[in-house]
Amino acid sequence: LPADIYGPSRRNPLGRDYSRLIEREAAERSTVLIGGERPSAGAIVGGQMIAAHQTPVTSPSDRSRVIGYVAEASPGDIDAAVKFARKAQPRWNAIGGAGRALVLRAMGNALDAHMDMFVALLSLEAGKTLNDGVAEVREAVDFCRYYADLAERQFGTPTLLPGPVGEVNQLELAGRGVFACISPWNFPLAIFTGQIAAALAAGNAVLAKPAEQTPLVAAKAVLLFHAAGLDPDLLALLPGDGAKVGAAIVNHPGIDGVAFTGGTETAWAINRSLAARNGPIVPLIAETGGLNGMFVDTTALREQVVDDVILSAFGSAGQRCSALRLLFVPHDSADEMIATLKGAMDALVIGDPANATTDVGPVIDAEAREALVAHRERLARDAVVLHGCTAPEGGDFFGPLLVEIPSADFLEREVFGPILHIVRYDPADLDAVADKLASRGYGLTLGIHSRIEGFAERVRARVPAGNVYVNRSIIGAVVGVQPFGGEGLSGTGPKAGGPHSLLRYATERAVSVNI
Ligand code: SER
Repeated sequence: LPADIYGPSRRNPLGRDYSRLIEREAAERSTVLIGGERPSAGAIVGGQMIAAHQTPVTSPSDRSRVIGYVAEASPGDIDAAVKFARKAQPRWNAIGGAGRALVLRAMGNALDAHMDMFVALLSLEAGKTLNDGVAEVREAVDFCRYYADLAERQFGTPTLLPGPVGEVNQLELAGRGVFACISPWNFPLAIFTGQIAAALAAGNAVLAKPAEQTPLVAAKAVLLFHAAGLDPDLLALLPGDGAKVGAAIVNHPGIDGVAFTGGTETAWAINRSLAARNGPIVPLIAETGGLNGMFVDTTALREQVVDDVILSAFGSAGQRCSALRLLFVPHDSADEMIATLKGAMDALVIGDPANATTDVGPVIDAEAREALVAHRERLARDAVVLHGCTAPEGGDFFGPLLVEIPSADFLEREVFGPILHIVRYDPADLDAVADKLASRGYGLTLGIHSRIEGFAERVRARVPAGNVYVNRSIIGAVVGVQPFGGEGLSGTGPKAGGPHSLLRYATERAVSVNI
């Protein structure tokens, strides 16, 4: 087979093996060093960090621990960033995909070289376990390398099109101008870097607005982009509150596109702001939440299902948009499944994410924890709480919880955290049960566990989902392997990490020459 059959080449960075003492000690050393450094994040405009009026950033696993400082971007910083970006973008666009690929590859290598530092900071600032941190850095590297390859292929020679004799027709891709990239706290490095790398690869300049909970990782990443050779004018960091700084960026007349990953409600608000403009029509690329289900039938292997469910529902403290929220189990096997799940939940280690043996760290902040507590209280009134794990005191921890609900109707919106809802179903009602899940309107991930091909096809035909996973976990999409993103309430596409990712960041120009 030609090598091309697999699409752009994949060169994943190596991970870490924390069962080895030497790698564990290196990780612990990095956490101590970065914890002592107390980095700052402020607006980074024209390569300068503006870090006045700083407020402390604390760790979700210990709110008494200050891990750095942040200063919010001002309206003046946004104006200045737009000015620098508009000036620098035409040259960046003109150097073409191959030139841009060099810088993106340098960034991929730089991230790889700083893996331990980022893993430490992800653990301190976002409460990520060490293994989740490693996976996240690797994903960020993958995005840089994958989009570099795409830039080279898609933004090089224009595509020749047919036409009558004497006429040359071609189609070329170009950057749109200045992209606002607004990213979430649950992947403060991978999604942050992925959006920026996609926008840059397509020939745009970028204004990056990180989540207010995770500015420190974002500032390190932006400085690394600049150190890797990117003209600093092409990438500004604008930290701050979404409703204030995010809204000011989205409403700025100097932007040409918005890439957003986060909640569905925020995507609606951004869409409304963009629609209210009387000027150029600005596209929105949105990747939002999910109310993700997994359907199990009686042919599924229980131990495998339980492994995949535990990882999908409770891994990363359930704080992935891909995470499993609803598990559908046939009546006949439900009791056994629940008993095995409870046993597996008891084996989870919940605690300090900087400890290599921890499976579940804290949730991101007190607000997230309170939303989960409120949901648990509502469930205690109307549903059956089957099992809960004890959470440590002192940080924003929430113990994984298993509850039984009568049907998907019970959940209106995504619940973001380690709560798994189990629904027993009668196999004769499978279609109706699947339709109820579909009627929620989301379309992100879908899991199916069955040895019968027809079962998977039947569920897939009824439940829309951008990413379908059969007989495996439903999290951890790999760049270039499982292009990631949903439909309906879950997003607009295009998928992140897929062969079409860069197209919506670009504009197409057809040129017809009569020779
Ligand atoms: N891309 C992540 C996953 O697949 C979710 O954001 O789990």
